[in-house]
Amino acid sequence: MTGADPAPVDDIVSRMSHTARTPLEVVVLAAGKGKRMRSDTPKVLHELGGEPLLAHVLKTVKALQPEAIHVLVGHEAEQVRGRFPGEDVRWVVQEQQLGTGHAVRTALPGTRSGSVVLVVYGDIPLIGAGELSELVDRARSNKIALLTADFSDPQGYGRIVRDDSKRVVGIVEQKDAGPEQLAICEVNTGFIAADRDRLASWVDQISDENAQSELYLTDVVAIAAREGIEIADLKAVDPETVTGVNSRVELAHLEGCYRARRAAAFMEQGVTLIDPLRFDVHGQVRFGRDCTVDVNVVLEGPLEIGDGVSIGPCTIVRRSTLRNGACIRSHCVIEEAEVGAGAIVGPFARLRPGTRLAENVHIGNFVEVKNSSLDKGSKANHLSYVGDSKVGRGVNIGAGVITCNYDGACKHSTEIDDGAFIGSNSQLVAPVKVGRGANVGAGSTITKDVPPETLALGRARQKNIKRWKRPRKTQDDGK
Ligand code: UD1
Ligand code: MG
Repeated sequence: MTGADPAPVDDIVSRMSHTARTPLEVVVLAAGKGKRMRSDTPKVLHELGGEPLLAHVLKTVKALQPEAIHVLVGHEAEQVRGRFPGEDVRWVVQEQQLGTGHAVRTALPGTRSGSVVLVVYGDIPLIGAGELSELVDRARSNKIALLTADFSDPQGYGRIVRDDSKRVVGIVEQKDAGPEQLAICEVNTGFIAADRDRLASWVDQISDENAQSELYLTDVVAIAAREGIEIADLKAVDPETVTGVNSRVELAHLEGCYRARRAAAFMEQGVTLIDPLRFDVHGQVRFGRDCTVDVNVVLEGPLEIGDGVSIGPCTIVRRSTLRNGACIRSHCVIEEAEVGAGAIVGPFARLRPGTRLAENVHIGNFVEVKNSSLDKGSKANHLSYVGDSKVGRGVNIGAGVITCNYDGACKHSTEIDDGAFIGSNSQLVAPVKVGRGANVGAGSTITKDVPPETLALGRARQKNIKRWKRPRKTQDDGK
């Protein structure tokens, strides 16, 4: 089985042993409102690949195995915390969002003296653990390390200011920058690592005398430079890993990047994607070997997909298991279901939660199955509803068969034993049982159990009326 992770954790194991020298603590800034999102949902809860932005960041920083993770919350703090029940982090409330510097100032008293503190932003979801690990390494020996990036459009970002010998001497925010500084394309990504005690002394010195009257974390760089501290800068290789989400346009852009990454990872693992640009994936999805996914397929994890599975165009599969050789045809919706080896589903089928199809089951067009199991080789190929049912092996469910599972108040179950044959357009009024090898005549309404190996007919007897005349229109009709 292979699985492409939403936030690929780079090969950091070798670096981990190196970084183990000084304890690492991570501070995640997630208290801001995210005004530019124009939303009632806090920015870090907006989703990328089906998971909150903050979930991506937490997953990545956990790979660094820090001693502690401190998450700053403020705007809608309870809503943010509530989305991560049982998460092993220390939640720190920043009552007023007075700026990124203020946020770090609020978190630092809870961190341990002597550690290296890595500051990350909750709104930059695609950062890689490898890059962060390298940043932390560079912050050792009492330095401050900074992750920068070259952006063709640096609009909105803090600009990196260097002296004549190319050493970083400060960061100027967009709103405080003059024309010369605005022309700088090297930006601050927001990721900073430094010795905890020095960082604490620097954040105590920053002031809010700037265009936004905020306490900027970025000001610690100029303070450190003035103190003669070496600023170790590291440049991000791939701009998308350090792109922040400030608006819905940026979120949509990153969603596209995320999808493309996952598609590439799946293809590298041996999955055929007919068109990687028309493929959508959320959450944990694992594929076996030699699977094929056609266009406009939406996959939502957790999903386990075996070997040789094919998924036809325009199909949605959520939180399900598809076993080896299963064939899902076009336009199916499959949710919390299990599809057995070699089973064929669709086109235009709907498998609802609690569906369990055993090996070689066939579910055809316009068939809906809910909370039901169908054993080996059974078939429901056309226009049926199978709900709250237990269907044995080798059962044939004809076109238009309905299990009437609801009496207006309660749900009832239907049992169809091995080898039974249910004729087309029959209704099985639950609770009811059709015995092994029994037959139900087409068009029957079955309200009583059918014993094994019998034929049940539950329909009006046919009458043929001789010389019957069709009604004719008279002159008065239609007046
Ligand atoms: C910040 C940087 C900028 C950098 C950019 C990278 C500062 C002053 N500026 O700008 O140099 O180029 O990120 O994306 O740091 N937050 C809090 N508490 C606050 C304010 C913010 O927790 O009081 C959190 C936000 O929730 C967010 C993060 O800090 O997750 C960054 O804040 P944001 O307002 O997005 O900063 P930018 O303007 O993007
Ligand atoms: Mg931002």
